[in-house]
Amino acid sequence: RKATWKLADGRAITLDVPEGQSLMEAATRHGVPGIIGECGGSMSCATCHVVVAPDWAERAGTPSAFEEDMLDITEAGRQPTSRLSCQIRMTAALDGIVLSVPEA
Ligand code: FES
Repeated sequence: RKATWKLADGRAITLDVPEGQSLMEAATRHGVPGIIGECGGSMSCATCHVVVAPDWAERAGTPSAFEEDMLDITEAGRQPTSRLSCQIRMTAALDGIVLSVPEA
């Protein structure tokens, strides 16, 4: 499955992401700039913040109450389709998802 990260400088990085892997894990493993994933996916750092492309937002699901709280304190500021990418796992339905990495 594929996912694309659009960077603040205009570059885009597309990676193969195995089903079940979180988009944070895929990004940090390949060194996508701006995705740090400091807490390892336990929703306590918000350094995996991404903005899901509006077309994909619904399929990516809705944040849990705890994720909601974390999104309110992201460094770059929350946007309508902001998510913590450690909470999005690749599935067949998300093949091709596009995310933006907010400028920190
Ligand atoms: Fe820390 Fe997602 S990796 S909140």
